Parts: sequence; structure tokens; C-alpha cells
Amino acid sequence: MPNDIKRVVVLGAGTMGRGIAQWFAQQHIRVELVDAKLAVATEAHKKVMLSWEKLKEKGKFTKEEIEKFADHIFPIEASDCERNSDLLIEAIVENLKIKKQVLRELDEEMDEKCIFASNTSSFPISEMAQALSAQRQKNFLGLHFFNPAPIMKLVEVVQGSETPPELVQKLSGWLEGLGKKAAICADGPGFIVNRVARNFYGESLRLANGKPETQETFEELDNILKKVGGFRMGAFELMDLIGVDVNLEVSESVWKSFYHEPRFAPHPLQKKMVSAQRLGRKTGRGFYSYE
Ligand code: NAI
Repeated sequence: MPNDIKRVVVLGAGTMGRGIAQWFAQQHIRVELVDAKLAVATEAHKKVMLSWEKLKEKGKFTKEEIEKFADHIFPIEASDCERNSDLLIEAIVENLKIKKQVLRELDEEMDEKCIFASNTSSFPISEMAQALSAQRQKNFLGLHFFNPAPIMKLVEVVQGSETPPELVQKLSGWLEGLGKKAAICADGPGFIVNRVARNFYGESLRLANGKPETQETFEELDNILKKVGGFRMGAFELMDLIGVDVNLEVSESVWKSFYHEPRFAPHPLQKKMVSAQRLGRKTGRGFYSYE
């Protein structure tokens, strides 16, 4: 098992970046939690500390364990991140143009041996690789963590057209050694989970058609999926957890990649929610209210 990945940078201190960095710190791996602005990284770091505090109160971790985790996580501004890191995981906004621009800049700045990974939910790794030098393309793959990253075991390990199989094996083995479940995926639209899940969201949204757009409606449909279907969460709860905006971006990306195949089509209600800034838990209101 490779033990040469000791310093990790997680770029993007949002929902996912924060969770991924928290999980690395819990594995005693030095991780920089990086965002464009230091204030954002610092705020995310506070949320991680708060999460550990709550887990301590619940008896999940001891004070000593939390102190040790805290020694491994550092909020940093993008321009100051450690250039000699072993692994950089990009977890910024799901926008292909921005991701490619940021990867291009980082390629020039980071040590040539640093492995680059993207946490993208839907963009082809082979296309993102076009922003990188030929050398870095051989050191680039998808590492798709799930939300909440410290808890969810699955990581999709995505092989782009230039990713050597050895790199995929190396990262899969490393993640499994740390307790994750690695699923090696082809570089197709939505990989495995987000492709299958499009219909979970899509059908639920279509079932809501014509009903009042109220929390009661969404709760009723979620309850059917949970009580009858045996799902842990209903589609509306899950969209609120993920971020309605992030979920819409993924829906649009998968739909476009399948040349507008109707079964993958986004639903107008997703767009309406995003326009109204009802993005889910992160804004306090989505399909449900959290205020
Ligand atoms: P988010 O919107 O919560 O966070 C994105 C973060 O990136 C923000 O803190 C923003 O300030 C930062 N950022 C934007 N541009 C930047 C730049 N140029 N340099 C540094 N930081 C920058 O987004 P979220 O939900 O964390 O998603 C991030 C990625 O993870 C996306 O690719 C998304 O598709 C993927 N993902 C999201 C999941 C979810 O449940 N939300 C699940 C699995 C993957």
C-alpha cells in the first residue's frame, strides 16, 4: 500500500471540501483546507471544529482524539498553499470552465510530482485533463467523494483517458487502507452513482408536478420513498443536503452529455428553486425550511 501521500491540499472549502478535509485530518493526514479567500477557509475550519465538538459530546471521539485531528488541518488561502504537496483534490464549484482555468494555473504552480484529483460529480476527467500539461495528465484522476464525506464510505475513482491504471490502483488501495470503499469507474457522464441517481430526483420532481409547492408535498413524497422504498433519505431531503444548485448543475451536465436524452432532463422546479436562492440547508431554505 502506498504510504508516500502525506500532505494533501483540498481546494474549495465548501460543503464537500470541508468534509473531505475533515476526514483526512481524522486519518492523521496533514491537510490544507484551501479557498480563494482566507476568510472562507477559516469559516469552514471553524465548522469542522464545531462538528468535532458535537461528535465529542455524543461520545464518538475523545478530547485527545480531537486535539490530534485538529493538529492535522490548516485553513489556507489559495495563493499560499503548500507547493510540495503529494495530492491536491479540487472541490470547487461545478463549472467546467472555472475548474479548467483553476487546474491550468495550479499545474504551473504545484510541484510536478503532486497528484491532481477532481471531486467533480459529472464532468469528464478526460476533458478536464485538457487544461493540464502532458506530464500532469498522467498524474490526474477523479476522486468523487460523497456527502457527508467524513461518513460516506464510497469514493468513485475515475480513470480518464490519460490516467495510467497504476495511478488508479494506487489511489484506490490507499483510500481502502484508510477505510473508504473505492469503486473504479469509467469516465462516463455522472460516473455510476450520479447517473443512476438522476432518475431518483427526476421522478420525484415529476411526481410533485401539479401539487402545491409546499414542504408538506415534498415531505409526503420523501416519506413514500423512505417508508415504502426503504431509502435512508427522500429525493427532496437529499437535494437540500447536496445543494439544489449543485444538483441542478449535475443534472444539466449529465443531460447534455447524453445529448438531451429526456429521461435525464432537469426539471423546471429545480431552476425555480435556484433562482429563488432556495438552495437547501446551506441557505436555510430549500424544499424544506431549516430556519
Ligand atoms: P460549494 O458551493 O459548497 O463549495 C465550493 C467552494 O469552492 C466555495 O467555498 C467557493 O468559495 C470555492 N471556490 C470557488 N472557486 C474557487 C477558486 N477559484 N479557488 C478556490 N476556491 C474556490 O460546492 P460543493 O457542494 O462543495 O461542491 C464542490 C464540488 O464537489 C463540485 O464539483 C460538486 O459537483 C462536487 N460534489 C458535490 C457534492 C454535494 O453533495 N454537494 C457531492 C459530491 C461531489
